[in-house]
Amino acid sequence: MEKIDLVYMAVSALILLYIFWCFIEPFFLIRDKAVLKKSPKDNSPVENLKIKRLPMLPIGDKEEADFRYVFFSDTHAEWCPVSSKRICESIRRAQAKAPLDAVIFGGDMSSYKQGASRGFKYLNAISKCCKELDIPFYGVSGNHDVHVSNIPETAGFVSLDDTHITVRSRTSGASAILAGLSDTGRKNRVWHKMPALDSNDPVILVVHDPDALLHFEPQTRPDYMLSGHLHGGQMKFPFRIEFCVLRRHDKLPNMGAVQGVYNIGGTTVFISRGLGCGVMPFRFLSMPEVTVVEIKL
Ligand SMILES: [Fe+2]
Repeated sequence: MEKIDLVYMAVSALILLYIFWCFIEPFFLIRDKAVLKKSPKDNSPVENLKIKRLPMLPIGDKEEADFRYVFFSDTHAEWCPVSSKRICESIRRAQAKAPLDAVIFGGDMSSYKQGASRGFKYLNAISKCCKELDIPFYGVSGNHDVHVSNIPETAGFVSLDDTHITVRSRTSGASAILAGLSDTGRKNRVWHKMPALDSNDPVILVVHDPDALLHFEPQTRPDYMLSGHLHGGQMKFPFRIEFCVLRRHDKLPNMGAVQGVYNIGGTTVFISRGLGCGVMPFRFLSMPEVTVVEIKL
């Protein structure tokens, strides 16, 4: 066989393997854990914002968490090979290890209006599971959710959109504010300010798009933030093409925050890779993720 034929065959095999893997990867599910500790306050303006990657699990940390959540985001129900059954199983496993304070959904139920019924079915199954275990189920809207009305009521979760509740730690008795912000969609996007909170308690903010943090007055930044939206890039390409070209409007990824835990301007942020696939039904080096998020005040 000619040398050129061998090269041709090897390249073809690699391309086929790549396509095969891109199709298979969305079926995997990473069940991980993130421990969020308070970051030192930093009121730097956005132009001087410092982003520091933090470990998901701080080493040598033995204190009990104040709040324990299961967080998942971006179901994009049209193509979400991770079934709701597997998410319910993750919730049950987490609850069996230690009591959960809530299950939280980070938005983007379906990519399009046509996928809403699948999305409702998916979230209804999780709602049912939360009810059986007596765990509150909260959520916020994502940029794709603006096309569907009454999502929280139909899907069976309590909306945190532009509202907040006071929560109390079952371990230390300390209180905190669990707040949420709605997403107004990619077109006609309005970046909300942080709501005025009549309390000095630490704030845990749930917001779909982590770029929201760049639009708050520095002194109003929350202590903790849970987000999704970025899908970890969904398809990783060389030279970060997925963010420089395909998601060039998303600012934080281009500043270095894509997935995992960060200190961003004094806020401890967790960004989930989410579960489903938006637009293209593929993932590459960005496996779906459901996370136990433990918060230490
Ligand atoms: Fe999404």
